[in-house]
Amino acid sequence: MTSQISGLDTRFALAQAIAREAGAVALDYFNRRETLVIETKRDLQDVVSIADREVENLIRARVAEVHPGDGFLGEEYGLARGDSGYTWVVDPIDGTSPFVNGMPNWCVSIAVLRNNEPVIGVICAPCHDELYASASGKGATLNGRVLSLDPSRTIRNAVTGIGANNYVTPAFVGKMVENLLEAGGNFIRNGSGALMLAYVAAGRLVGYYEPYMHAWDCLAGYCLVKEAGGWYHPFPVEGEQLTKGSPVLATAPGARDDLMKIAGL
Ligand code: IPD
Ligand code: CA
Ligand code: CA
Repeated sequence: MTSQISGLDTRFALAQAIAREAGAVALDYFNRRETLVIETKRDLQDVVSIADREVENLIRARVAEVHPGDGFLGEEYGLARGDSGYTWVVDPIDGTSPFVNGMPNWCVSIAVLRNNEPVIGVICAPCHDELYASASGKGATLNGRVLSLDPSRTIRNAVTGIGANNYVTPAFVGKMVENLLEAGGNFIRNGSGALMLAYVAAGRLVGYYEPYMHAWDCLAGYCLVKEAGGWYHPFPVEGEQLTKGSPVLATAPGARDDLMKIAGL
């Protein structure tokens, strides 16, 4: 037990230090983004550059220096399994589309799984100078300020974040927007699902729903939301499922039932 607690503490401190360092490197690329060669992945909207790859390489190297037995899953270079019981799940830049188009809504997202639970969630949003940090049983903070969700907020008196990509049909996206508006809600999409999950933890959004995302997009945000007093729809991470997509939903307590219904979960 003692070694598990100290294992968590060590990694929590490391995750915050790495997120700050990686955020600074990403911000440097952002500030000279006109020099980047933009490549596309699944379609013309799905973009990537050397910034995503270099930031992931940096995070992998920093983790391996201190915890060589930890597993590591990153969006750009995939999964390397470990034997320590801990797995880092990282999106080096979430919100690459805003990033390459010169908008500030992007972040570095770092989660750590222990026994298939996201026990650490750290999100760094360099353009806003914000560091969101959470660890299991230790609460969630934004730049050191404790985050605690207000149970009186619902989809009707607050704003909900949504997202979608080309894994889901336009009709499905249209229907989810229609369901939300008909229930009296309204929506925002800023191009970074991970950052919008951090906004749920900060009480800026009352919930976030996206029909299909990956573990690297959501697990850090999930830990943050839970530690701030919210709820999340479990993301399957056992075995091969860790690298597959699944619905993502995280909410403040007063929005859970409405958003589960809207999402059909
Ligand atoms: C994307 C963003 C976007 C969400 C997509 C994700 P990326 O991640 O989080 O908001 O709608 O589903 O793939 O490509 O910027 O890392
Ligand atoms: Ca992402
Ligand atoms: Ca990414």
